Amino acid sequence: MSTSRRQFIKKSAAFAIPVIIPAAARGADGAVAPSNRLTVAAVGWGMQGPGNTQSTMSLPNAQVVAVCDLDKNHLSQATDAVNGFYKNQDCKAYTDYKEMFARKDIDAVTLAVPDHWHALVATAAAKAGKHIWGEKPLARTIAEQQAIVKAVEDHKVIWQTGSWQRSVDNFTKAVELVRGGYIGQIKEVQVGLPSGHNDFAGTAKSNTVTEPPANLDYEKWVGPSAMVPYIEARVHRNWRWHYNFGGGQLLDWIGHHCDIAHWGMDMDNGGPSEVECEGEFPPADAMWNTCTKYRGELKYPKDIKMTIAGGHSDIAGGTKWIGTEGWIHVDRGAFEASDPSWRGFRVLPEKMRKADIYRSTNHFKNWVDCALSGKPTITPVRTAHHSATPGHLCLISMLSKSKIQWDVAKEEILNNAEASKLLNRPYRSPYTQADFA
Ligand SMILES: NC(=O)c1ccc[n+]([C@@H]2O[C@H](COP(=O)([O-])OP(=O)(O)OC[C@H]3O[C@@H](n4cnc5c(N)ncnc54)[C@H](O)[C@@H]3O)[C@@H](O)[C@H]2O)c1
Repeated sequence: MSTSRRQFIKKSAAFAIPVIIPAAARGADGAVAPSNRLTVAAVGWGMQGPGNTQSTMSLPNAQVVAVCDLDKNHLSQATDAVNGFYKNQDCKAYTDYKEMFARKDIDAVTLAVPDHWHALVATAAAKAGKHIWGEKPLARTIAEQQAIVKAVEDHKVIWQTGSWQRSVDNFTKAVELVRGGYIGQIKEVQVGLPSGHNDFAGTAKSNTVTEPPANLDYEKWVGPSAMVPYIEARVHRNWRWHYNFGGGQLLDWIGHHCDIAHWGMDMDNGGPSEVECEGEFPPADAMWNTCTKYRGELKYPKDIKMTIAGGHSDIAGGTKWIGTEGWIHVDRGAFEASDPSWRGFRVLPEKMRKADIYRSTNHFKNWVDCALSGKPTITPVRTAHHSATPGHLCLISMLSKSKIQWDVAKEEILNNAEASKLLNRPYRSPYTQADFA
């Protein structure tokens, strides 16, 4: 891409000038001309990366030009998939994301790395001026989330979070009804998440210490986390069941269902003032040590009470808002409400629309269009931060065995030094949080 076009995209990100692509600028075959496409690089080719990349490649105004992974097998699968899609050999492969981000012809990046890497990779991408698709939860700790928010906002890049439920009609309809006042004033919100552990990689039986395979740079994969011996069952996909890398079901899902809860509560930039959570944990030295069952009670402004739970049969999976005049429950493929007629339509009829909400029907298209136009996405970085924070606070409450008082504006835990320590985690040398700046 020419320097002038990059400057234009950066400028448009800063000043929110919509880019209009005139028909004359399109290729003769009807495709968007290369000079008007967002050039994208993908980091992480595991469970989520391939789908994210496929969705990006399917958009006419985006083109994937490079991929990065620490696992050489995953990396060659990634290059093959991208080159296979475009029927050429143009996709470049990297094992070092910083080297890839240094390329001036790359406008944007999609990140699908494990949670313990989110902060370093996302802040580096923002500093390099790349627009970012980042995954939920925003990061492994609240302090890392704050660093990502700062980097993205300081460098004025466009961010979309992988909380794609915001771009699905079922969830949009539910939120529009709640925000439109159809259930009266919200009194209670229930956020139901999974419990236990899922053997996503089918590696649960590979639970003994071995040498890492030659195709994986395990030292770098562990990255800023504490070095622990290689056990296949807690690396690819299943890392989320060990606190060294992820946050268990609670943090894996909070960025989906609490994100929808906040959207309905009109609290994208809000949060709880008090959090108390109890849970059941395997021994800390177990192969998978994340909480298997949990229940948190949270106090929100306007006298709203929220319950976040996994493994409790009285809290259904998904999001339920209970108001003074009715209730709505929504989940993937499920919608129930106090007024059964609301089930009857896919999207809210025009005449029933009372709330002015952001509408998107394609989360990737929304990101690419916004990266090109400079407009905010449906799930910007600050929203992702607030959507995941209640999950982090529930975990901190469980680990510190205390009720947390949270100052939403200052983003500080009040009068609890032990719990406050859990807002961040130490970084293993040579990785340092100084890199966030
Ligand atoms: N939005 C959704 O619905 C959804 C679904 C699944 C996962 N996710 C999120 O996607 C992210 C990735 O999860 P996953 O299940 O795909 O994990 P995964 O383990 O399957 O894949 C991660 C990939 O990243 C690579 N990697 C790790 N560190 C790297 C680094 N520093 N540089 C380059 N590559 C690196 C790994 O080698 C691996 O190939 C997580 O944050 C997860 O929460 C989101």
